[in-house]
Amino acid sequence: MGFIADSLNRIQPSATIAVSTKARQLKAAGRDIISLSAGEPDFDTPENVKTAAIRAMAAGKTKYTDVDGIPELKAAIVRKFARDNGLDYKPSQISVGTGGKQVIYNALLATLNPGDEVVIPAPCWVSYADIVMLAGAKPVFAETRLEDDYKLKPEALEAAITPKTKWVIFNSPSNPTGAAYSKDEIKTLTDVLLRHEQVWMLSDDIYEHLIYDGLTFHTPASVEPRLMARTLTMNGLSKAYCMTGWRLGYGAGPETLINAMRKLQSQSTSNPCSITQWAAIEALDGPQDFIAKNNEKFVERRDLVVGMLNQANGLRCPKPQGAFYVYPNCAGAMGKTSASGMAIATDADFVTALLEEEGVAVVHGAAFASSPAFRVSYATSNEALEEACRRIQRFCGNLK
Ligand SMILES: Cc1ncc(COP(=O)(O)O)c(C=O)c1O
Repeated sequence: MGFIADSLNRIQPSATIAVSTKARQLKAAGRDIISLSAGEPDFDTPENVKTAAIRAMAAGKTKYTDVDGIPELKAAIVRKFARDNGLDYKPSQISVGTGGKQVIYNALLATLNPGDEVVIPAPCWVSYADIVMLAGAKPVFAETRLEDDYKLKPEALEAAITPKTKWVIFNSPSNPTGAAYSKDEIKTLTDVLLRHEQVWMLSDDIYEHLIYDGLTFHTPASVEPRLMARTLTMNGLSKAYCMTGWRLGYGAGPETLINAMRKLQSQSTSNPCSITQWAAIEALDGPQDFIAKNNEKFVERRDLVVGMLNQANGLRCPKPQGAFYVYPNCAGAMGKTSASGMAIATDADFVTALLEEEGVAVVHGAAFASSPAFRVSYATSNEALEEACRRIQRFCGNLK
C-alpha cells in the first residue's frame, strides 16, 4: 500500500491544465508556441467589476463571510435567475463557491455513494468524470455523434440510465464541442428524465451567455419546471465575465442539496474570496453590453477556425453555436506518420506531434472521453488563430 490514497489513484490530473502548462514551459524555453488550449477568454475583466473589488477592499470587506455566500450576492443571483432564465429561487436555495468547479464538486461529493452512476454526455468537460470517480461512483458516458453536432439524443440518454443512476450532467453550450441546445432539443431530454424519478439533473450553464447565430439560451429547469425539485442549475462568472482567476461560481437547487453542499464547503475552503463576492454583485447587476461585443469577436474567430480546419487533410469540424471551442474529428489522420517520423495511432499522438513539429498546443480528445478528435480553443487573437490553423493544415498535409 502506498502513502497516497486509493481515491487519488482513480483520477487523473486535469489534461487541459497539463497541456497549457507544457505550452507555457516550451514558450519560456524560447520555442515559438501558439497555445489553443486555454479554457478562458483572452479579454480582460470589465473595469466596473475591478472598481467594485477595489471599493470592497477599501471598505474592509476582507474578512470571513457566510460559508456559501454573502446575502447581498445571493440576492443578486436570485435576480439573475429571474431575469435571464425565468427561474424563481429563494436565497436559501443558492450556493456560492470558489468557481463553478467547486459547486459541481460539492454537489457530487455531497450526494454520491460507491456504486452510484452518473450519466455524462461525451465528449464532456474533463473534470466531471474524475470528480464522480473521486466520490467512488461510476461515470457512464452517453455518446453523442459528430453527425448530430455532438448533441445528445433522447435514445442515448435513455439507454445510459439504470436503476443506479443518481445524476445526469448536462452542459450547453458545451466544453469541449461548443454544441448549444435549442429549447426543443432540451425538452426531448427532460422528457426522458420525467420517466426516471430517482435521477437528478445537474445543468452546467457556465457558457450561457456565449451563444451565437441568434440562438436563445435555455436551461432544463425552465424548459421543464417539473424537474425543478431535482435539478441543480449551476453557473459562474469565469467565462462570460472574463473572471477565471477571481474564482466564483454558484448553483441553485432544492434546500436539502444546498444545505449538504454548505456543510461540505464549511469543512474545506469556507467562503469564496470576500472581495470577489462583492465584485460579483457588480458583474451580475451592472452593464451587460460588453458580452455582445465579445461575442461578435468570438463568432468571427469561430468562422475563421472552422473554415480553415475543414480545409486540413483528414479533419472534419462542425460549426458549433456556443462557447469558444471547436472539436474537429481527426480519424483521417490515424495510422499515418508525421513529417518527423512520429506514428499517429491516437489523438494523443496527433497533438504531441503537432506540438513538437509545429508548436501548436491543442488538447487530445481522449481527455474529453471521445476520440479521435481534439479541442481547439479560439479565445485568442485572429492573427494567432490564422497562423495556428495554417500550421495545422501544413501538419496534416505532411502526414503520410
Ligand atoms: C463546462 C465547464 N464547467 C465548469 C467549469 C468551471 O469553471 P470555474 O471553476 O472557473 O467556474 C469550466 C471551466 O473550464 C467548464 O468548461
